[in-house]
Amino acid sequence: MLNLDAIRADFPILKQMINDHPLVYFDNAATTQKPRQVIEAIVRYYETDNANIHRAVHTLSQRATDHFEAARKLVAAFINAPQPESVIFTQGTTDSVNLVMSSWGSHQIKAGQNIVLSQPEHHSNLVPWQMLAEQTGASLRFLQLNAQGILDLSDLESILDEQTALVAVQQMSNVLGSIHPIQKLIDAAHAVGAKVLVDAAQSVPHMPVDVQAMDCDFLVFSAHKMLGPTGVGVMYAKTEILEQMPPYRGGGSMIKEVWPERYTWGDLPYRFEAGTPNIAGVIGFGAAISYINQIGLPAILEHEQMLTAYALDKMKQMENLVLYGPTDISQRGGIIAFNFEGIHPRDVGEILDQQGVAIRTGHHCCQPLMQHYGVTGMARASFYIYNTCQEIDVLVKALGRAQRIFSRAASR
Ligand code: ALA
Repeated sequence: MLNLDAIRADFPILKQMINDHPLVYFDNAATTQKPRQVIEAIVRYYETDNANIHRAVHTLSQRATDHFEAARKLVAAFINAPQPESVIFTQGTTDSVNLVMSSWGSHQIKAGQNIVLSQPEHHSNLVPWQMLAEQTGASLRFLQLNAQGILDLSDLESILDEQTALVAVQQMSNVLGSIHPIQKLIDAAHAVGAKVLVDAAQSVPHMPVDVQAMDCDFLVFSAHKMLGPTGVGVMYAKTEILEQMPPYRGGGSMIKEVWPERYTWGDLPYRFEAGTPNIAGVIGFGAAISYINQIGLPAILEHEQMLTAYALDKMKQMENLVLYGPTDISQRGGIIAFNFEGIHPRDVGEILDQQGVAIRTGHHCCQPLMQHYGVTGMARASFYIYNTCQEIDVLVKALGRAQRIFSRAASR
């Protein structure tokens, strides 16, 4: 059991009223709130240590560099990367996927090969591969969902073959909350010689992820979905792959030596970190990981699944409410996507906001998934460590109000 009073006290933003109601923040799949420990780490850096990193011998630069590299070590340990140099800091998951696409994919993937993706992919793990397919002449193949909203891996022989260069899939859906059984997919992809990229933007913040146990080739995620700042993300790759990858962006830091007409590649991980990075953001990310470590990911997942089960029990009883995603709680994280029949999800979101409840509505950057379900959008409530059953009661009450408002409007 989490100590929710103590956790909630760490999040200044949660103490406010929205439209005369206490804020209920259920848009955690879009971005999470930040505890004071993260905010203070960022403020402390700017107030006491602000300097550029890896560049100077003066004390401030040394301190800034030490804090930045300490964050890299925390991230590496968090995903059990074999060494800190396997962790490349980026601007976020989208930037990480584009890095892999540009630096690895555009050199390794050729016409006639195929890239295997899945139907519920976020646009950030779809559009870069569409761009690469256009450039190279490679084709795209798609894993489909089963009736539970989980990837159907029953017929992998028909989708993976010797021409599969890459499988790029999400571990947890940012819309349905489904936890996909990707180990089977990783093993099958490796058996045909393909590499595997795991989009862990939704999984790493909510469940233990071990890159060595999983044996994935690439893993990408963002700080802002796990209590850290926006504009910071991670691209992990196996060392032997990183060593072969050319730089992504040219500039300072990523070189070893530069002459007027040529340069040599810098060492890992700096080869992929051209320019001055988001130093304060990375240091804040380190503080976010320390905060999550204190609570522990198994306890976080258990808490979110408890909230999800509690919410689903109540929401199932509501008339005309369509719920998406797995019925088995152990196969989903803390996300509930839903629609009221005949009510636009944006209208539901607006009525909930009037009650202080923040949810996201729309296509959630997953238009092909919306096409699969034959809808243009969904409403989505997503939970994190500071959410409570009492807040779910508020959500359910606010949903009841939305339902009454629209049934009255329809009967006029
Ligand atoms: N990917 C984020 C979401 O699911 C923005 O809302």
